[in-house]
Amino acid sequence: MALAYVSVGVAPRSVGKCGPERVALRAYFVLPGARALSYVYSTMETPMLIDHTAAFIREKFLHEGSGHDWEHIRRVWQVARALARDTPHADPLITELGALLHDVADWKFHDGDEQAGPRAARAWLLSQGVGEEVIGPVEAIIREISFKGLGVPTPMSTVEGELVQDADRLDAIGAIGVARAFAYGGHKGRPLHDPTVPPVQHDSFETYKKNMAPTINHFYEKLLHLQERLNTAAARRVAEGRQAFMEAFLQQFLREWEGEDVG
Ligand code: ADP
Ligand code: NI
Repeated sequence: MALAYVSVGVAPRSVGKCGPERVALRAYFVLPGARALSYVYSTMETPMLIDHTAAFIREKFLHEGSGHDWEHIRRVWQVARALARDTPHADPLITELGALLHDVADWKFHDGDEQAGPRAARAWLLSQGVGEEVIGPVEAIIREISFKGLGVPTPMSTVEGELVQDADRLDAIGAIGVARAFAYGGHKGRPLHDPTVPPVQHDSFETYKKNMAPTINHFYEKLLHLQERLNTAAARRVAEGRQAFMEAFLQQFLREWEGEDVG
């Protein structure tokens, strides 16, 4: 049987792709001193794990109304998967699980608790018999992925994390980004716009979390800056059109707000 990818030792990195298709056999070579890794996925199990995880998340988020619904997760999953196909050494399993689970228990909906997401993902993956070599990197993606304020860098510690972060950020800009921002603002009872409340630069995650500003401010405090914070050239290419759309939307919104286009 051909191996599509092989993970080596304690660091779960893909080191090669030998077949045209992902084959779900993961072979672990335990380096001297490393503890034995706990499982090997058979050809049946990896697709099943992805399917079960997608079904679990779909069920949980199908009727969510703040822009963090199943369709957001589905788009992030598809885009992350496409980015992974073009990224040497990206582990498809970790990318897909990271994408599917990245908003499983977002701090925004859990009283600011940053550990809620990693904890929920761990519990789900443990219930599926997944080992630490996969759980660890998936937890790291969830811990690291979120925007935390304009003045706060958000580097990802794995290539898989970079792809999921790009996919998540692409879904926060463009036409869908505009729709999601207002869905979120409405969900939280925020005004659309208030010209007397200027946007601010948040230099810490704590002040960013406490932010209650009108939705238009979110464009200046986050959304317009996502393009320059993308990790991959492929995502940057997609972002160009979305960025232009978002800028045109804002210009028109502010013109209409002041009635500049009337009379
Ligand atoms: P992140 O983890 O980077 O926050 P998410 O996938 O959780 O990414 O989704 C973030 C999206 O939620 C934003 O892009 C926006 O659409 C919405 N959102 C979050 N905070 C606000 C806000 N203060 N005002 C309007 N929309 C917001
Ligand atoms: Ni998301």
